[in-house]
Order: sequence, then C-alpha cells, then structure tokens
Amino acid sequence: MAERTLSIIKPDATRRNLTGKINAKFEEQGLRIVAQKRIKLSNEKAGEFYAEHKARPFYNDLVSFMTSGPVVVQVLEGENAIARNREIMGATNPANAAEGTIRKEFAESIEANSVHGSDGTEAAAREVSFFFTDAEIVG
Ligand code: TYD
Ligand code: MG
Repeated sequence: MAERTLSIIKPDATRRNLTGKINAKFEEQGLRIVAQKRIKLSNEKAGEFYAEHKARPFYNDLVSFMTSGPVVVQVLEGENAIARNREIMGATNPANAAEGTIRKEFAESIEANSVHGSDGTEAAAREVSFFFTDAEIVG
C-alpha cells in the first residue's frame, strides 16, 4: 500500500553535512521525498513533537538536542513507507542497528541517532500534519 511517513534528519546529521547521503539511502531504497524543509525547532515545538516521551528520563535532553541545530523535516512516500523507513533507519540504539542502516552508518549515540521516522499509521498522519500543509506535499 502506498503510504506517507514523516522523517526528520536530526541536528547531529545536518551538522556533519549528511543530508544528501541520508536522502540517497531513502531514494535508493524506493522512497520518494515528496516534501522537505530545513528548519530550526523551538523548544516548544520540539517538546510538543515528542510529547509522548514526556515522562521518560531522556525527554529534556532529547528536546535540547533536537533544538541544538537545524533539522530537515520531510515526507517520504512509497509502498509500506512507514515500516520501510523504519528498516532503512535501523534500531534506535546504533549499537543494535543492522549493517547498512542509516543509524549504523551515521549515528553518534542513542540520542544523536541522525534520523526520526514515524512508528505507525496514526503517528505518521499526526506528524506529517505537524510540519506540513497538504499544499506543501507534492507526490
Ligand atoms: P523512541 O521513539 O523510543 O525511538 P525511535 O526514534 O527509534 O522511534 O525514542 C525517541 C528518541 O528519543 C530516540 O530516537 C532517541 C531518544 N532516546 C534517548 O535519547 N534515549 C533512550 O533511551 C531512548 C529509548 C530514546
Ligand atoms: Mg519513536
């Protein structure tokens, strides 16, 4: 089924100029970038985006990391895009990420792990509309 998912290239990756290499992984593996913008997240916006993790011990550090530099927010489209993107990204902790995944190749740590990807249908819908209007997505 053709799907859309929300992806974020995180500050550790934009800082090291890895946007193109990460986008190549998506494109080579069949996902199309149908919307993309480089932005600086405010504390408020990053906090709201990760609200589901508010009670977790890593929440404050995660929010400050996500506001520490530019991010590239993007919508990826393709067959089973949500699960496909999670495979391309690799495990949250790069120590557990499979060979060839973005996090295995590029992540610095469990926090600075280079990319975000929606984890399900509901999250994808919510997260895509958190950053993009329909008119900004061109399939
Ligand atoms: P989570 O949604 O569990 O991972 P994923 O990004 O793979 O969906 O966690 C969100 C982010 O929170 C994760 O990408 C990095 C950060 N994080 C930590 O800093 N420490 C942790 O122990 C965990 C689980 C996540
Ligand atoms: Mg998650």
